[in-house]
Amino acid sequence: MSEVLILDHVRAGYGETVVLEDLSLRLSRRETLAVLGRNGVGKTTLLATIVGHTTLHSGRIAFHGTGIEHAPIYARVRSGIGYGPQGREIFPSLTIEENLTVARRDGRWTLERIYELFPNLAQRKKHMGNQISGGEQQMLAIGRALMGNPALLLLDEPMEGLAPIIVDGLLLVLEKLIAEDDLTVILVEQSARLALQVTKRALILDRGKIAFEGESAELARDMKKVSELLMAT
Ligand SMILES: Nc1ncnc2c1ncn2[C@@H]1O[C@H](COP(=O)(O)OP(=O)(O)OP(=O)(O)O)[C@@H](O)[C@H]1O
Ligand SMILES: [Mg+2]
Repeated sequence: MSEVLILDHVRAGYGETVVLEDLSLRLSRRETLAVLGRNGVGKTTLLATIVGHTTLHSGRIAFHGTGIEHAPIYARVRSGIGYGPQGREIFPSLTIEENLTVARRDGRWTLERIYELFPNLAQRKKHMGNQISGGEQQMLAIGRALMGNPALLLLDEPMEGLAPIIVDGLLLVLEKLIAEDDLTVILVEQSARLALQVTKRALILDRGKIAFEGESAELARDMKKVSELLMAT
């Protein structure tokens, strides 16, 4: 089984409420997928469902060929799913270094390598989670997800609310990670332009359903079509 992740007819939401209607997707090793869509269409719910934060009503989720739909969150994370949630969810009363080490799982990523990737975090490692800038919090959220040595990295709007110069820096890091690390990535992003720049495939969600799927490079060449697709949803 070469697929890293398979979602098969997934219906999921919060309690009785169904947000994802009948969603199927497949990601093979080192594939990168952008998930685009307007506010409230279910982008966060999709990532949250993969990591186990929602109520699964029906369907299957397989990670490296094993059904994980009934596995608790910690087991999914331990099996190699890294999650950088929307809003970052840094522990405010822990230092940067403690935020990183609590997520540690043996593997290629170590504190030293995270500090190499994000020198700002190394400089501020003794600062508390609530004493750092938005950009540093986002670096920390990505670093923390990497500390779990994931095979699958789920990032929910990592550029949200950041100054353009910080966004440029983070994009470079993401491009480096995608090029050099053995990672399969799902990137949720409001900015189609940014997301298409760093991914291979993209899908547009509309009210819990996949409204469109295509190659990122092809879509990036026709941003007018992307806007139309996003507006039509
Ligand atoms: N904890 C929750 N309980 C109940 N409903 C929720 C919950 N979180 C989100 N929803 C609802 O689920 C739907 C999808 O929300 P979701 O957060 O997945 O959208 P999104 O595409 O990530 O939006 P955004 O672009 O604003 O982040 C929305 O109608 C939202 O109101
Ligand atoms: Mg969201």
